[in-house]
Formats: sequence, structure tokens, C-alpha cells
Amino acid sequence: MTTNNSRLCRSTAATPEAGGGGGVVIALVVAVAQNGVIGQDGTLPWRLSSDLKLFRRLTMGKPIVMGRRTWQSLPKKPLDGRDNIVVTRDASFAAAGAYVVANPTEALALARRLAAKRGTNEVAVIGGAALYDAFLEDAQRIYWTSVHGCPEGDTRFPEFDLSDWKTVSKEPIALGPTDEF
Ligand SMILES: NC(=O)c1ccc[n+]([C@@H]2O[C@H](COP(=O)([O-])OP(=O)(O)OC[C@H]3O[C@@H](n4cnc5c(N)ncnc54)[C@H](OP(=O)(O)O)[C@@H]3O)[C@@H](O)[C@H]2O)c1
Repeated sequence: MTTNNSRLCRSTAATPEAGGGGGVVIALVVAVAQNGVIGQDGTLPWRLSSDLKLFRRLTMGKPIVMGRRTWQSLPKKPLDGRDNIVVTRDASFAAAGAYVVANPTEALALARRLAAKRGTNEVAVIGGAALYDAFLEDAQRIYWTSVHGCPEGDTRFPEFDLSDWKTVSKEPIALGPTDEF
């Protein structure tokens, strides 16, 4: 089976200034199966090294914002070359090599400062479902990998109105030797 990645932009907020990013583009980066599944048992429900390479390329050099569960799911952390920002309500939570913040608003404020420091105008929200949900309203861009399969899963991308969004580019991802789908 194959996979492809699409870049979607919000039709009503084409510029960073028009969204909630305060001068930076908030971009969601996600891989979604045909049944909407993005996760299973606290991890990814597939092995897709081609998509992991794409994920690295899309997020490198940027602040990345994630939920505590996604942080815990990372086999190697922090993700190198990026400012890792972890959102949790647990004030005692420690994440070596990452910034820990108490809510999405704090995450965005910090990400904006770090983006300015790095000279990038994009902040990547890398999941999971709770964080996509929290940032969907203010996001201006989605890097959406369509995974052509229907794996078992307990975590789905939140419902959203696709008519608010337009696809601005699309690239096929060739099936690599270790890609499950
Ligand atoms: N397919 C993909 O592209 C993709 C990407 C990323 C993750 N995933 C998968 O998605 C699953 C994890 O998603 P998830 O939704 O269960 O977890 P998550 O979004 O990664 O993390 C949820 C946690 O984030 C914190 N949080 C969320 N909203 C908050 C808020 N408003 N204020 C403060 N803290 C907040 C809470 O941490 P505390 O409980 O510590 O308070 C919450 O339990 C895993 O299976 C993972 O592999 C898939």
C-alpha cells in the first residue's frame, strides 16, 4: 500500500497574521490512516520509516509542541535539532532535554520566542490527538500524511471541517523497504 503527504492551508487564514500564531505559522504535522487512526496503545500503529524521514525534514530547526503522552512514546528523546516543548498538567513532570509547560497557551508563547531565536516562522504541533484538538482552531497549516491502511487504533485525529481548508500541495511517498503501509 502507498502513502502520500499533503500540505493543507486554512482557506480563511492564509497568512500567519490572520491566525492565532501571533506572527508564526502554527502547523500540525500528522499521519492519519484511512479510518482516522493515529495511535494505538500509546504508540504509532505502524512502522513507516519513509514518513519518519519526512517528519524529520518538516520539523527540523523548529520548535515542536507535543502532549506528555507523545513525549513518552518517543523512543529517542529529545528529538534532535528542534526545541522540544511538552505540555502537561502535572507540575512535577520532568522531561530531560525538553521544555515543560502547563497548557497550550504557554506552549505557544514559548514556541513563538524560540522560533524568533531560531529565525523560523513555523511552529510544529506534532501530536497527539489532545494537542491537535487544542491547536486546530489556531492552526494555519497541516502537513497531513495519508496512510493507506486501516490499522487497529485507540487514538484518532479530531473531527474537523475540511471545507475550511484547501490542499496547496501534495507529494506521493514511495513505499520503502521497511514501510508497513
Ligand atoms: N500518527 C501521528 O502522526 C501521531 C503523532 C503524535 C502522536 N501520535 C499517537 O497519539 C497517541 C497519543 O495521543 P494522546 O491524545 O493520547 O496524547 P497526547 O496529546 O500526546 O498527550 C496528552 C497529554 O498532554 C497533556 N495535555 C493535553 N491537553 C492539555 C492541556 N490543555 N493542558 C495541559 N496539558 C494538556 C496531558 O498530560 P498530563 O496527563 O501529563 O497532564 C494529556 O494527558 C499515541 O498513540 C501516539 O503514538 C500519533
